[in-house]
Amino acid sequence: MYASLKSIGAYVPSRILSNADLEKMVDTSDEWIEKRTGIKERRIASAEESTSDLGTKAAEIAIARSGIAKEEIDLIICATLSPDHLCMPSTACIIAAKLGITNVMAYDISAACSGFVYMLSMAKAYIESGMKKKILLVGAEKISSVVDYTDRGTCILFGDGAGAAIIGATDNKNEAIVDVHASADGNYADYLITPGCGSKYPCSQETLDERLNFIKMKGNDVYKVAVKTLTNDVVDILQSNGLEASQVDHFIPHQANFRIIDAVREKLNFPIEKTVLTVEKYGNTSAASIPMAINDAYETGRIHKGDLMLLDTFGGGFTWASALVRFGGN
Ligand code: ACO
Repeated sequence: MYASLKSIGAYVPSRILSNADLEKMVDTSDEWIEKRTGIKERRIASAEESTSDLGTKAAEIAIARSGIAKEEIDLIICATLSPDHLCMPSTACIIAAKLGITNVMAYDISAACSGFVYMLSMAKAYIESGMKKKILLVGAEKISSVVDYTDRGTCILFGDGAGAAIIGATDNKNEAIVDVHASADGNYADYLITPGCGSKYPCSQETLDERLNFIKMKGNDVYKVAVKTLTNDVVDILQSNGLEASQVDHFIPHQANFRIIDAVREKLNFPIEKTVLTVEKYGNTSAASIPMAINDAYETGRIHKGDLMLLDTFGGGFTWASALVRFGGN
């Protein structure tokens, strides 16, 4: 038996935060943001919506498209860096309850923007070992809750959203998750970090005054490591599977910054037409970015059963991961 990505779904909140809106909040300009990042707008959840609400809506779509009954799901994993609560209950548990699924194994993982591809490697192992049969993966972020809207170096980048997928079993190799590579180097932890309100700097008036509960980033350093790592990662996974870039139907990179994507794409000689881009309209939605991009390609009719997708992602930790996935949905 092989593991197969059977369906995809996504949800974004309706409120749009444009570059023009950000011009009124921090010292920046539409021109600067677009030139440096390719982002024009991003979505922001309402005060009433939490990460689990976004994740639940994406999951409902993925479940409906999979054709399975929600009761068949025997594992729910959620990847997020903006969980409903620090740190229990897990957002996956809350999503399970909101979906009306009880008596199911459910947990969160923390791998920042690499979360969805990390989850794919787990789901592949669970399915191939026969331990689980139908797995719901959710990448969901109300990242606006941990973004400092006085810091122009970060607030222009991020947006809220969620993506979800159902992973099941197949005996057809042409609809299978081919391979997943995932790795990390914690020596870079300080480059991209939400320092406060964990056990190291527990929430206090001081941590809040110093705004340590928000994402801090050394943008320029992250940029350089990201381009190098994302490129090496793709070369590695293609080589170890005996594949050429030309055999990939869709290159679906983490939607952090158009310049990063384009630098990687150029180094690897992927044509722009084969590259899925959503960064312009959603910004960086961290763990939701890859499933939202797959969903975008699916809803616009670009992805068909059996198509080979190459996923490539990088995030805080540093974590990074890539995957070769043949689409198993209809
Ligand atoms: N508007 C206007 N000017 C700005 C802004 C802004 N929003 N932000 C920074 N600047 C200024 C800086 O202060 C600096 O000014 P100075 O030259 O007078 O000192 C100048 O612009 C250049 O700053 P850099 O940081 O060198 O700009 P850079 O070209 O590197 O672009 C950016 C910054 C867009 C953040 C880029 O470094 C980047 O995208 N890095 C990667 C970030 C990323 O992808 N992070 C997410 C990883 S995934 C995850 O896990 C969440």
